Amino acid sequence: MAEQSIWMQKVTADPGHSTWYVERFRSMARQGEDLAGEARLVDAMAARHSRILDAGCGPGRVGGALAEAGHEVVGVDADPVLIAAAEEDHPGPTWLVGDLAELDLPARSVIEPFDVIVSAGNVLPFLAPGTRRQVLDRLRAHLAPGGRIAAGFGAGRGYAFDEFLDDVAAVGLTADQLLGTWDLRPFTPESDFLVALLRA
Ligand SMILES: C[S@@+](CC[C@H](N)C(=O)[O-])C[C@H]1O[C@@H](n2cnc3c(N)ncnc32)[C@H](O)[C@@H]1O
Repeated sequence: MAEQSIWMQKVTADPGHSTWYVERFRSMARQGEDLAGEARLVDAMAARHSRILDAGCGPGRVGGALAEAGHEVVGVDADPVLIAAAEEDHPGPTWLVGDLAELDLPARSVIEPFDVIVSAGNVLPFLAPGTRRQVLDRLRAHLAPGGRIAAGFGAGRGYAFDEFLDDVAAVGLTADQLLGTWDLRPFTPESDFLVALLRA
């Protein structure tokens, strides 16, 4: 079994954490906040009716929006409470409980590969640090030829951007573009956020 993610360690320490997270996003949705910024960038990267994997999908915010845009979405997350919320709030995609470090969708009868894999909302800093390269390698293994990964996370969360880019190269991925935001602002040395567009 893979080392427990930092997210699941938080959940173990505070079992209400997952429900708090679900309610936080439900409340923002009720208030009409824009929760689909990441999905819009991914939609622009994808041909119509693409196969998209939402890696660390949480309650389905990003994958749900991509399914509404007509894509075939699979979402995977280690937190069963968040997957239950995704099923309730965003019916349609395939939502699966699973650890990205052990991702093997063909073994679960889910057709791969994927045209785009998205990992939004600070999934990567919530991985168990010892599994980072394993997770990136599993994502690479689920890419279609020519497929791409869009991964975004913030600075100051224990996973330095340089370290991430070293891990990207170590598993045979190439960073095609580095952005500072999901709305396409450039990445600079001052950026406090990174959106990396990767290919195998
Ligand atoms: C801050 S939440 C973001 C959720 C979602 N992507 C969003 O933007 O709303 C971080 C998520 O990463 C997931 N995560 C962290 N490590 C994981 C792992 N090894 N396998 C699967 N999910 C993981 C957590 O379970 C959690 O749902």
